[in-house]
Amino acid sequence: MTSIGKNIEIAASILEENGLVAIPTETVYGLAGNALEEAAVVKIFSAKDRPSFNPLIIHVATVEDIKLYAELDPISQQLAEAFMPGPFTLLLPKKDLIPDLVTAGSSKVAVRIPRHPLTLRLLHKLNFPLAAPSANPFGYVSPTNARHVLDGLNNRVDYILDGGPCEVGVESTIAEVRDGQIILHRLGAVTAEEMEAVTGLPVVRKTNHQQLDTPGQMKSHYATKTPMYLGDIPTLLKEFNHLHVATISFCKSYEGLISGHQYILSPKCDINEAAQHLFAVMRSIDEFSFDVILAERFPDKGLGRAINDRLERAQAIHK
Ligand code: TXA
Ligand code: MG
Repeated sequence: MTSIGKNIEIAASILEENGLVAIPTETVYGLAGNALEEAAVVKIFSAKDRPSFNPLIIHVATVEDIKLYAELDPISQQLAEAFMPGPFTLLLPKKDLIPDLVTAGSSKVAVRIPRHPLTLRLLHKLNFPLAAPSANPFGYVSPTNARHVLDGLNNRVDYILDGGPCEVGVESTIAEVRDGQIILHRLGAVTAEEMEAVTGLPVVRKTNHQQLDTPGQMKSHYATKTPMYLGDIPTLLKEFNHLHVATISFCKSYEGLISGHQYILSPKCDINEAAQHLFAVMRSIDEFSFDVILAERFPDKGLGRAINDRLERAQAIHK
């Protein structure tokens, strides 16, 4: 049975016994277990039906704690001090304490300090890091509130720590310092420009084609059950007007569509608010019987870029 509450003592005692707890973070909810115990890590993979070749992020309380589990070079430390706690993950050489299962055999471990008061208090209380992927069944949209977690993982997680809706709404930026450059592995709320400003180093975007080409992998990311197409909505509407259409747009509404079928992420054109609402809107559209989702591209900067990345992955399956 899964229970929901705000009690970090309950959460801590479950985690100490290698159970699973869904934790709120400012990005999305995570499905957490003791990162140092293989028995707990195995449960995370199986609860999500996640393939074991897909490594997990570990969550710690402080920059000092990072050094217990990974090698922190001076530039990475600079980034950590600038962006942690926050929607930011660093890929670092791992220490032996971290089981290979967590990193899927890689010598690097992904580490982050989430910026959510409940989860930070929990992490300070524990004497181990938490391995936590997003708390959704593998392949589906990440959860941004406790209800989303329950919808996907009921009876697969012991306790959901309810910290309210997520403040950022898209997963953390993942970065790695390598050969005098910063490799950007995943787009999130911390931008390339911000990392450049802090370190003076160039940021290079890494698109993980290899991973996307792996069968079963591409369709898996952030995908709604309803087929999604991304582009200019009026153009797409001409192609799909015989179908039952839902749209996702930033702040505009479109003529010729029923207003209840138009999901406007931020009527006041606030990109932060749009990101907060994105995954909840994708999930609620899936609850109705739309034939297709037509989504527009968001402004190609900052969080808009991260939103476009998620929308592109969500549509890849249907091509
Ligand atoms: O915002 C977030 O990062 C959320 C919250 C819960 O912290 N977590 C999250 O985890 O999005 P997940 O597992 O859904 O995505 C983690 C990504 C995956 O694409 C994984 O392949 C990559 O991080 N990753 C993790 N460890 C890695 C490693 N050692 N090397 C390369 N990529 C890694
Ligand atoms: Mg995920």
